[in-house]
Amino acid sequence: RIYKRQMICRSDIDQLNAPFLAIYETLKPAEEEKAKQKQLLTLLETLVSKEWPTARLYLYGSCANSFGVSKSDIDVCLAIEEADVDKSKILLKLADILQADNLQNVQALTRARVPIVKLMDPVTGILCDICINNVLAVVNTKLLRDYAQIDERLRQLTFIVKHWAKSRGVNETYQGTLSSYAYVLMCIHFLQQRRPAILPCLQEMETTYSVTVDEVKCAYFDQVEKLGDFGRRNSETIAQLVWAFFNYWAYRHDYANAVISVRTGSLLSKQEKDWTRRIGNDRHLICIEDPFETSHDLGRVVDKYSIKVLREEFERAAHIMQYDPNPCVKLFECF
Ligand code: GTP
Ligand code: MG
Repeated sequence: RIYKRQMICRSDIDQLNAPFLAIYETLKPAEEEKAKQKQLLTLLETLVSKEWPTARLYLYGSCANSFGVSKSDIDVCLAIEEADVDKSKILLKLADILQADNLQNVQALTRARVPIVKLMDPVTGILCDICINNVLAVVNTKLLRDYAQIDERLRQLTFIVKHWAKSRGVNETYQGTLSSYAYVLMCIHFLQQRRPAILPCLQEMETTYSVTVDEVKCAYFDQVEKLGDFGRRNSETIAQLVWAFFNYWAYRHDYANAVISVRTGSLLSKQEKDWTRRIGNDRHLICIEDPFETSHDLGRVVDKYSIKVLREEFERAAHIMQYDPNPCVKLFECF
């Protein structure tokens, strides 16, 4: 471990820029995909407003946070302001309405952790999940999208990390590995920590956007167009950043004590979060603080088996980035 901690980046690292950028370009969704998603959303809005005239639909998740690869499913939130919302009843009603309008494979999953209706649009083939009143997810989607506009390297790095995680089977929360949302937060935090910083900490800046959702105050600086050249003083390239990201998670992160926090743009200690021991199913073996729901550790799904799998995958990736003649192939070899 000791000698690995002092690892110096390979000298030919910048030759990997072009192939990494090429991968990024192939993953990026085309503009016409966005248009099709909008079309489906408009149809859904029409159907929903007939039954619930004051309800609103919002896109969230990767179709709206700018970290979605081509052909992703879309996540939609139905926001209903009723005093006493019986989610199951609404989802079943919604499923009926969608089915009657010829949307395909409509299924109401009322007992899931996040209850949803699933459907497929027969015209575009788009798969869609609709949940009810998950407004915090809509707000954290905006935060991620705003960060993505500050420096393009965030989007590039995240696409590569998500592609790696999916290829290697470590983007499966039901198997104890991390969600896409967690990987995006890891990338944002990593770029906040570079010196000079590539990303600022928007929640520590002047508040220009503020909403309170489910008693959680969400406030940050969202006029990101004013920060256009924030990361300019740092000239690290995408290949260097991919190398350093895996190196960090393989050898440098202090798994025993540290919590990564996009909210503060810094590392916190498990001690101050009181995340030092297992409570219920939350084991806190890798700690990623949610930027708004600060009591929420996105690493909570990780258990004593999957932490080993994850760390071995980080080490494998770091090793490939250091020594493999062709990292852009080897890194993404399917598990
Ligand atoms: P892919 O579908 O894998 O491309 O990524 P995704 O960005 O859609 O990610 P994911 O399916 O993990 O999550 C969808 C959205 O739900 C995220 O963008 C978040 O807005 C939200 N979300 C997911 N997990 C959590 C969580 O544990 N807490 C909160 N507050 N929001 C979450
Ligand atoms: Mg999704």
